[in-house]
Amino acid sequence: MGSKVLPGNHPESIRLAAEIIRSGGLVAFPTETVYGLGCDAVNPEAAAKVFEAKQRPAFDPLIVHLADQSMVETVAKHIPPTAIVLMDAFWPGPLTLILPKQPGVPDLVTAGLPTVAVRVPDHPVAQALIRESGTPIAAPSANPFGYVSPTTAQHVSDGLGDRVDLILDGGPCPVGVESTIVSLTGATPQLLRPGSLSLETIQSVIGPVDRAASAVEAMHAPGQSARHYATRTPVTILSAPGAWPVFRGGERRGLLAMSEPCELAGRFHAVEVLSPSGDLREAARHLFAALRRLDASGLDRIYSEPCEETGLGRAIMDRLRRCATSL
Ligand code: TXA
Ligand code: MG
Repeated sequence: MGSKVLPGNHPESIRLAAEIIRSGGLVAFPTETVYGLGCDAVNPEAAAKVFEAKQRPAFDPLIVHLADQSMVETVAKHIPPTAIVLMDAFWPGPLTLILPKQPGVPDLVTAGLPTVAVRVPDHPVAQALIRESGTPIAAPSANPFGYVSPTTAQHVSDGLGDRVDLILDGGPCPVGVESTIVSLTGATPQLLRPGSLSLETIQSVIGPVDRAASAVEAMHAPGQSARHYATRTPVTILSAPGAWPVFRGGERRGLLAMSEPCELAGRFHAVEVLSPSGDLREAARHLFAALRRLDASGLDRIYSEPCEETGLGRAIMDRLRRCATSL
């Protein structure tokens, strides 16, 4: 299955991509977090194609991508002061806000919810595409539903092939894990998905943010199903780096190490090191590509080291846990 790939930094590619968006087609494009599978956010038929291409269940709403803050009022209303503070502080950037929606946003995009998810991506190709299209772009991550998110154009074409009309190649995504999602529809801001903008950073600007108390509550962020971002190969998270369990004989094992692993003594058939120096930013950037390489290595099981759950580490552990949850 071939898919059409063009360099994202050529004006000609952007013009063609924008034409595809305006005529109801699908364009995969890079953002700072992961690649998105984009369509015209106010065209319900185009949105239906996104769900079909990803095999995504209709209860899982899409994030609407805007070129800048001035576009927010075209899709959202009753924008509270806290939202303005957050937008001023973190847009463009990996923060998605949940706000009451405008009637013009199709129900399919919001999965029938009265709210809409909005963000302004911090990536020149994404920005150029939205501007040239002249419409907000609804985009989930550009992977088959449930699988590891794509951080390169190759990942997109591996997963979606010719189900996408065009892929804009912008190289590897500089951040590598998805945006942080905060709902501003209740009395206090609520974290619906930890992501690449850390909770600490958000709280330093707006004060306390509630966290979804349980997996059940987190399900109210539709699409936050337990098993998501998952490899086909089962994943076990170690209790600490080097805390090896009793391995089964003959098992083909892979290791996802956060930093330079301690002595391995030939225990693993494949090893991926996310950041030799133990830097969480570097680890986040490499996480999904490393998981995909391990998943393609014919292993029986992937063992993953844990990382500390502060800053970006919260998002990394969230993705690993969803990967490790058994079906
Ligand atoms: O970094 C990102 O956010 C990437 C890039 C492409 O922008 N996008 C992304 O989209 O991760 P996706 O579809 O994989 O995840 C979007 C999630 C949904 O699964 C859902 O949990 C939440 O956003 N969401 C969207 N609309 C919502 C709404 N109205 N209320 C609550 N949660 C919503
Ligand atoms: Mg996704």
